[in-house]
This record gives sequence, C-alpha cells and structure tokens, in this order.
Amino acid sequence: MTQDEMKNDVAKAALMYVVPNTIIGVGTGSTANFFIDALATMKDQIVGAVASSLATQERLEGHNIPVFDLNDVETMSVYIDGADESDVELNLIKGGGGALTREKIVAAVAQQFVCIADESKLVNVMGEFPLPVEVIPMSVNYVKREITNNIGGTPVLREGFVTDNGNLILDVKSLKITDPKALETELNNIVGVVTNGLFANRSADVLLLGTQQGVKTITL
Ligand code: A5P
Repeated sequence: MTQDEMKNDVAKAALMYVVPNTIIGVGTGSTANFFIDALATMKDQIVGAVASSLATQERLEGHNIPVFDLNDVETMSVYIDGADESDVELNLIKGGGGALTREKIVAAVAQQFVCIADESKLVNVMGEFPLPVEVIPMSVNYVKREITNNIGGTPVLREGFVTDNGNLILDVKSLKITDPKALETELNNIVGVVTNGLFANRSADVLLLGTQQGVKTITL
C-alpha cells in the first residue's frame, strides 16, 4: 500500500466521526484533502464546515460544502486534521503546511479532535520533524535568539513563505521533545510568537493511523 492509499483510508475512516446535522472543523494538508474529498460524498448530511486555512476553504467550496466563519459558530462536533508527527499520547506536531495557528484555534473550539495520519507520522519522541513557530514579522530575529539561547534547537526562517495571517514561520530543527506541554507553553510565552505547532495542551482525542495492516484507532 502506498502512503497516499493509507492517507485515503484514514480519511474515509474519519467519516464515521462526522456527526450529522452539525458543523465540523476541517484541517489542512494532503491527508485533510483526502478527507474533504470523502466528506463531499455525505455533504448533504452536515450543516457545513469551518476551514483551518484558505486552501481548505477553497477545496470545501469547490465541493459546494458551506463554509462558516468561526466567529459565527459557537461549537463544532468534531475537528478532523492531519499531523506531521504524533506520539503515543496523541501529542502532535503540526504546521508543516504553515496553517498551525488557525488549526489550533479551530481545534480549541471543537468538542472532539480526530487526527488522521499514515503510520510514518507515529514516533516515540517528537522533534525529528522541525517544529513550526508562527511569528510576527518584526520579531523574527528576537524570537530566533530567544529560542537559541534559552530553549535549544536551531530555528530556521521558512524562506518565501507567509501565513494566511500575514506572519512568518520559524522551523526549529534538532529538538528532542520530552515534555511537549511545557515546551508548547514556553515557546508561546516568547513575545512575538503567535503560536507554535505543538498540540499538547490540546492534543488529539483519537488518532486514526493508516498502516499496511489497515486503519488502527488509537485513543488514550
Ligand atoms: C498544516 O499546517 C499541517 O498542520 C498539516 O496538517 C500537517 O502538516 C499534515 O500534513 P499532511 O497530511 O500533508 O502530511
């Protein structure tokens, strides 16, 4: 089975978490794209979706799925999104596509967070995937120095990339993340950081993992 086939399998498996007659949150990335395409097959059963990026909004609208502004929505039954890494406690690294801040906001509002990923994303210790940090442009060099001097890892500016919010991304390489909750909080406390790609204080509730043996469901 190819990686795309595993992504497609978990995307389809996630449909059973979609609660009929509600608004759901939809993530960003290649696995989320498979999910959007699968969601189109049952679009008449939902009220609509909140998108975690402009790219996701466009894809949802391409399928004629109604897209709601988060400010017009009080709650979502479920948020479904991919990840760049997950550990066995369902802490995640996200933001490889740069949509981490909107993803974290939508995840915060949803009642349940279902993460969909192929088996390559499950790791023992997170950090091999560079940790994305969204920063206000004028603070880039200050935040870089703070990370280098006080936290560790090597922050590298993502060249030629601007987020949907008009900000920049530092990808922090060479981290070994042994305490994801503490690191998430510590990074967010640096002035100029909008948020970082650790989803630990609000981790996933369910991980649907696409494997060669089929879809595995991991919960805590
Ligand atoms: C987008 O910013 C990311 O958080 C994605 O959700 C994550 O990178 C997973 O993407 P893929 O499904 O393309 O691997």
